[in-house]
Amino acid sequence: MNFIYPRSPEIIFGRGSIRNLPDKVKALGIDQVFVVSDKGIRKAGITDKLIALLQEANIKVNLFEEIEKEPTAMNIEEAKKELKASGAKMVIGLGGGSALDVSKAVALLATNEGDILSYVGVEKFKKEGLPLIAIPTTAGTGSEVTRFIVFIGPEVKTKLVIVSQLAIPKCAILDPELTITLPPKVTAATGMDALTHAIESYVNVSSNYLSESLSMKAIQLIAKSLRKAVARGSNIEAREEMLAASLLAGLAFNSTRLGIVHAMSQPAGGHFDIPHGISNAILLPYVMEYNLIGNIERYIDIAVAFGEKIDGLSPMEAAMRSVKAVRDLMRDIGITEKLGDFGVREEDLEMLASEAMESGNILVNPRFPSKEDIIEIYKKAL
Ligand SMILES: [Fe+2]
Repeated sequence: MNFIYPRSPEIIFGRGSIRNLPDKVKALGIDQVFVVSDKGIRKAGITDKLIALLQEANIKVNLFEEIEKEPTAMNIEEAKKELKASGAKMVIGLGGGSALDVSKAVALLATNEGDILSYVGVEKFKKEGLPLIAIPTTAGTGSEVTRFIVFIGPEVKTKLVIVSQLAIPKCAILDPELTITLPPKVTAATGMDALTHAIESYVNVSSNYLSESLSMKAIQLIAKSLRKAVARGSNIEAREEMLAASLLAGLAFNSTRLGIVHAMSQPAGGHFDIPHGISNAILLPYVMEYNLIGNIERYIDIAVAFGEKIDGLSPMEAAMRSVKAVRDLMRDIGITEKLGDFGVREEDLEMLASEAMESGNILVNPRFPSKEDIIEIYKKAL
């Protein structure tokens, strides 16, 4: 087996770990930071807490809070302008995947010429960005450790992806206490994003010695704790395990990439404004059914991780139990939507499938799909 593992940030994990932030900034000799966040984070009281921590340590803060639900190229360019005008020499990303992805983009655009669109693709950035500390407030994207930046393009409403080792933050601070105010619906959706990362990474053709242990542990933690985190947001143990799961899944797919759930979910989410975790969740069981024959053993492992009884079953029956486990989880945490609920119609599927086939995630999926296969899976999820 051959594999390459991208670099990893320094990872600071645990309850109250946000208090390490000022020391991490000061250790770099920096006294002014540019914080990329959104207004929801402020409402949850997290932004003020972070600013107070920094100001107590005499660190000046410039705040950019205009993050859109799904960041656009324009949104990134606005943030870049403000960062440059501020003169700050360090970026802090605070929030869910959108805020973290914008923070990764602007840290790089501060030192690399040109606009964000010129860097779409693989490893196009040439210079290290400004130092970046990523602080997730959801347990889902794993963006705090990954080399991916996802945003919506200026003309067509399609999602664009930047893959760059230089986008990986210098440091990630993961404090589960920051996630306790997330409402149940967001907890459910972001948790399903983390589960999709873990499953797609675990079964895909790039899965390796290092990634498989990370992704399996993530699946086990999600099977144990996602229901609890949705049921009672203040359950700090469940929040901690979900944040760990999101981190482990992020570290796993940073090496392996994902699969056709993400290939299909990105165009669907971009064109029809579906929250990323929800579009993944809708597609995940159908894609698992389609993929099963590509990696039966791994799907059996997933069934077992969810506590499914497989004694006496044939390998395919046992593998099918992984799909049942995911459907049961979705039912319990209240994800009942279909793509049609967001306005996707049968006549859109040809266009969505064409875009999905362009994704790099197609290449690593355990079963190589035709465009017709992709359309069929979309149809089931309508
Ligand atoms: Fe995702």
